Amino acid sequence: MQSPKYTARAHTNIALIKYWGKLDQDLIIPMNSSLSLTLDKFYTDTSVFFDSTLKQDIFRLNNKESSSLKVTHFMKVLREKTGETRFAMINSENHVPSAAGLASSASAFAALALAASRAAGLVLDSRSLSRLARRGSGSATRSIYGGFVEWQQGSDDATSYAVPFEENVAWDLSMIAVVISAKQKKISSSVGMQRVVATSPYYSAWRKTAAQDLAAMKKAIKKRDFRQVGTIAEENAMKMHALNASAHPHFSYFEPASLQVMKIVADLRSNGIFCYYTLDAGPNVKIICQNKDIQTILAALAPSFSQERLVVAGPGPGVKLIDKP
Ligand code: ADP
Ligand code: DP6
Ligand code: CO
Repeated sequence: MQSPKYTARAHTNIALIKYWGKLDQDLIIPMNSSLSLTLDKFYTDTSVFFDSTLKQDIFRLNNKESSSLKVTHFMKVLREKTGETRFAMINSENHVPSAAGLASSASAFAALALAASRAAGLVLDSRSLSRLARRGSGSATRSIYGGFVEWQQGSDDATSYAVPFEENVAWDLSMIAVVISAKQKKISSSVGMQRVVATSPYYSAWRKTAAQDLAAMKKAIKKRDFRQVGTIAEENAMKMHALNASAHPHFSYFEPASLQVMKIVADLRSNGIFCYYTLDAGPNVKIICQNKDIQTILAALAPSFSQERLVVAGPGPGVKLIDKP
């Protein structure tokens, strides 16, 4: 017996204040609250149905049969929560490079949470969906909503979820993604942050400043103070990468080209073009800018990066069903 098939689309999000460390590995309760912007250009479409003839979950990513411990674990959690006993056929398409620091796990598990819960017969409200997506990947907690989103760390499964900070962003703000490498990273986000929590001597300082950065960021967004938003985001990202540099064994997600982009951004800024960078667990740089400066920034990048490596993204929407029975 087959369940009806549901297909969901979720967009990725890039954190302006980063989540980097878990208090609880299994429940994915973070060490600090975070705040992100959901992007329109990068997303995942995932369809799910349950089938009693399947002996295990089948996961196809970009039309290729794949295996993912994250997906296996998530489906186990989903069956426990919903009472569904059948295995699932999962088909997913990433319109974002996978595992390259462009937040594929965020859009992936937000889409999977919606499609799989509906296929299992459950209609969840946004908060419950955010909690469910969290069990797949922390950043997915935030991709339930569009625009600026805050993930309130909470202290347990019931209290750790995202809330919209500003869903419809009426602001001429963009992120230019410089795609330096679409290759899968060597150290996954989960592994990287776990090592940092266990070994970085600076971790307690990070938690303290992340809370201060978040409060300042929320004020700056409300005031529409673009320079303040950019400055706090860039500094917060660099503090996160400083944790990686201070871990044991230390590691870095930067490639030479990442540093090159960072320097181009710094040079633009000295010339009065106010733009800022942020990097996640991967070499790709996201440039936070105002729409009026996009062409100037693209021109500064053009000698070093071909056009198809430069993706201009704006604020994107929350998760939704794009196909249902
Ligand atoms: P990223 O920077 O892309 O978020 P992560 O290391 O956080 O990288 O997560 C990558 C992992 O997320 C992949 O190894 C895979 O397990 C999972 N993933 C990526 N895309 C999908 C998808 N569409 N559906 C299910 N799981 C996915
Ligand atoms: C640097 O959500 O990918 O992008 O919870 O282990 O799946 P898991 O990690 P993930 O980590 C994201 C880290 C980050 C910062 C952020 O998105 O807040
Ligand atoms: Co991720």
